[in-house]
Amino acid sequence: MTNRRTNFINMVKHLSDVPQNIIQKEIDLSKTSPYRQNYHIESESGSLGDPNGFSQFNGQYHLFYQWSPLGFSQDPHYTQHGWKHLISKNLVDWQDWGTGIESDTELDKYGTYSGSALPINNKLFLMYTGNMWTNTESRDDWQRIPYQVGAMMDKNNHVEKWQNPLITGPLENYTDHFRDPKIFKEGSNYYAVLGIQRENLTGSVLLVKSMNLYNWQIIGEIKTGHDNLGYMWECPDYYEIADYGILQFCPQGLETKENKFKNIYQNGYLIGKKLDLDTGKFDCSEFHELDQGFDFYAMQTMKDNHNRRILMAWMGLPETKYPTENYHYTGCMIFPRELQVKDGFIVQKPVDEIKDLYANHYFVQKEVDSGIQLLAEESDARDIELELDCSQANSLTIDLFANEDNTDHLRLIFNHKKQEFIVNRGNCGIPVSEDYGVERSCHLNLDQKVKVRILQDVSSAEIFLNKGRNVFSMRVFTAKDNDKIFVTSHNGTSQLKADIHQLRSSKVTVSR
Ligand code: FRU
Repeated sequence: MTNRRTNFINMVKHLSDVPQNIIQKEIDLSKTSPYRQNYHIESESGSLGDPNGFSQFNGQYHLFYQWSPLGFSQDPHYTQHGWKHLISKNLVDWQDWGTGIESDTELDKYGTYSGSALPINNKLFLMYTGNMWTNTESRDDWQRIPYQVGAMMDKNNHVEKWQNPLITGPLENYTDHFRDPKIFKEGSNYYAVLGIQRENLTGSVLLVKSMNLYNWQIIGEIKTGHDNLGYMWECPDYYEIADYGILQFCPQGLETKENKFKNIYQNGYLIGKKLDLDTGKFDCSEFHELDQGFDFYAMQTMKDNHNRRILMAWMGLPETKYPTENYHYTGCMIFPRELQVKDGFIVQKPVDEIKDLYANHYFVQKEVDSGIQLLAEESDARDIELELDCSQANSLTIDLFANEDNTDHLRLIFNHKKQEFIVNRGNCGIPVSEDYGVERSCHLNLDQKVKVRILQDVSSAEIFLNKGRNVFSMRVFTAKDNDKIFVTSHNGTSQLKADIHQLRSSKVTVSR
């Protein structure tokens, strides 16, 4: 077993405690990466993880995320961790406010872990997990105390942490895995859902309640009937859309089942009648994956003043190495999505604000046969709307991120014969987590015309199918000039219409 202390070399409380030239060195190196995104949020340097505190406050959207800007620093290596803070009017262009909260108290010394935010009387209440270790003099017998912590942010974005924990773990009958509070209000009461691990090493969600934000009462586990779904549920979120109650979370430790649960850790939701907030009873469906792609985790939602339920998520996975680490950074966010419910399933689409990024537009219509055809080139950021009909062929292949001779690409296969959509990342630049397979797929009725929406950025694709019921998000790390899209139809002709908007880069202004 490694000594935990090695994870905390040169631990500092504040980023401002680190010499500026060391911070700048990391940022400068990250800038040289060929994989920097054009319009997806990523960290200037170090690691970006879970979205936190996603909210609307003081007339603007606020997004925080798990941030270790010096995560890859060397000679010397520094350990510093907190929440990064970004603010936006349109969910597209962002003001960078630097550190939102840092790990600088006895409640969160070893990590300001994930949490959420709720506007309350002209302030933004932040609720998060403070990770504390005791017995750190021992080599391996460190004991974790998961504190649930409160803080208030004012309109100048100044954060005051509360000194007393709201809840102190571990709780009786549970292990020390107790984290990620997502707060919401119902009537005059506040509630939060938190991920928790039972003593028998199964995952669950705990519901807690407060009338004043200081004193919290434990209502109990949400009774989902899914008592054996992995060993830990991270980043839970409860919300309602129309008459539906939705509990989403990230279960760890599920076994792959056919084409489901193929990543290291999973994401998904249970949908049903509204949750009974007095008893925790939740009459709900089976567990559905929210995003079936290679890279998606730790999602969090908020409801905005247009009554939209908006989703943010980390387009990445824990314990997974990405090639950007060579440039001392990792991780990016998905482009924000609006959620609705159709026929008992969540459907997702990119928020309409994507239009603020629209630059050149063109429309292509093609009859595709067995000869390979070029559909588009010379852009690395696009919003693509496809309408395809391969009902007269065995299958249609679309190769994104393709090089000149199409030997390297992200391959989308619309297999009419098998009524299946497959995305294959096996022949696509630098491999990522190949141990978890190079294909993801879902059933797709291809006897009819289908619509597909693809958001492409320099090193990612988000693919929306079946009106947003099936979504696949992924990172891809190909060479800079892999900007072509090729199409081929197999054993019969296919029809294709493509409405393509090239996208400008989003603006990030630094307001520190
Ligand atoms: C999910 C997670 C959370 C935790 C955070 C720490 O990725 O493990 O459960 O709060 O990351 O960074």
